[in-house]
Amino acid sequence: MMSQGQRLGYVFEFSVLALVFWGVPGTRALDNGLSITPTMGWLHWERFLCNVNCLQEPDNCISEQLFMQMADLMVSDGWKDAGYQYLCIDDCWMAHTRNSKGKLQADPKRFPGGIERLAHYVHSKGLKLGIYADVGNKTCAGYPGSFGHYDIDAKTFADWGVDLLKFDGCYCDTLTHLVDGYKKMSLALNRTGRSIVFSCEWPLYVRPFHKPNYTEIRQYCNHWRNFDDVSDSWQSVKQILDWSSSNQATIVDIAGPGGWNDPDMLIIGNYGLSWDQQVTQMALWAIMAAPLFMSTDLRHISPQAKALLQNKDVIAINQDPLGKQGYLLRKYHNFEVWERPLSRLAWAVAVRNLQELGGPRSYTISVTSVGRAVACKPACFITQLLPVKKELGLFEWTSTLKTKINPVGTVLFQITNQA
Ligand code: GLA
Repeated sequence: MMSQGQRLGYVFEFSVLALVFWGVPGTRALDNGLSITPTMGWLHWERFLCNVNCLQEPDNCISEQLFMQMADLMVSDGWKDAGYQYLCIDDCWMAHTRNSKGKLQADPKRFPGGIERLAHYVHSKGLKLGIYADVGNKTCAGYPGSFGHYDIDAKTFADWGVDLLKFDGCYCDTLTHLVDGYKKMSLALNRTGRSIVFSCEWPLYVRPFHKPNYTEIRQYCNHWRNFDDVSDSWQSVKQILDWSSSNQATIVDIAGPGGWNDPDMLIIGNYGLSWDQQVTQMALWAIMAAPLFMSTDLRHISPQAKALLQNKDVIAINQDPLGKQGYLLRKYHNFEVWERPLSRLAWAVAVRNLQELGGPRSYTISVTSVGRAVACKPACFITQLLPVKKELGLFEWTSTLKTKINPVGTVLFQITNQA
């Protein structure tokens, strides 16, 4: 995998510029009617990377077999019912060259039926298929890029029956080409007449050079990556959370139905996170109204990780129809309190224990201090959703709520107003 600097061929100092509010509530979203709530699905990259060695690793290589197996499991194991609908292919699905008509083609050995047949299969299961391409001359892993081919590639994907395009930003020679390329591909997808979710990495690639224009990005993309790739480690999840809270003045208000900040895949169910860290990722991705793309092996997932990823109450917070992204409200004594406004005057509140030593620590919240002081006015019902569900009962405006949180863990609450 490349670092951000390598990707554009330069190493730039990351300059922390003064944060400017340019989130304009009600800013126009990409007008394709998609991702009205954050997209949910499965994406191969973090867990399966660019494994093309089907001879030695037939069960873990990027092949139609892998996606067909995941499609079967998404239906049989309750993932689809929980809301995970998009089964997405990432990099390394292509042959190294375009065909004689200039079209992208799948690697014929690994995808003998081509993408079209895979799309049929995925659709027959009631799921949708996502694919990956790149705005520049090559994908990040070195496969053919879409530069100069936006229309033909958009048409090819639409003809195959693709429902989502993740569009990466490697190997683009200039910033102008990158920005124009994202716009051109968005318009080309639109012209196909097929409903195709457009998943961008535009701000991630322009940030080293200038502040991303989120108002514009939102007009072309259904979601956009802002920060580095997630990896299977707590360090990585922490960095994403830190980046998101440090930049919240810029990114929170711009999110809403049709356009979302994408903090990258859920790595729950893999190797790198403890139970409390997995709870933290799930709770905070719900608070941040993040697209929920799992990247895990659904054939071998623990019942505990599965229950967390399929937690209906937490998914309902993520998918709340008001579509407002949550934010870090306060940081205090190694605790962070995050909150997110929900529809019907409800709120989600998450308290993280940042301390990475010792045991569970107590934290007391006065209910007036969350939900802009009105969540519990005159009273509210509070339910703890994570790490385990507990109905905590009725609270009045002057009440306090005492909680205990494991090191690196998070407690997630739902507050329902009782007006
Ligand atoms: C970049 C993207 C990742 C993944 C890889 C594939 O690093 O940010 O999410 O798509 O490319 O090569």
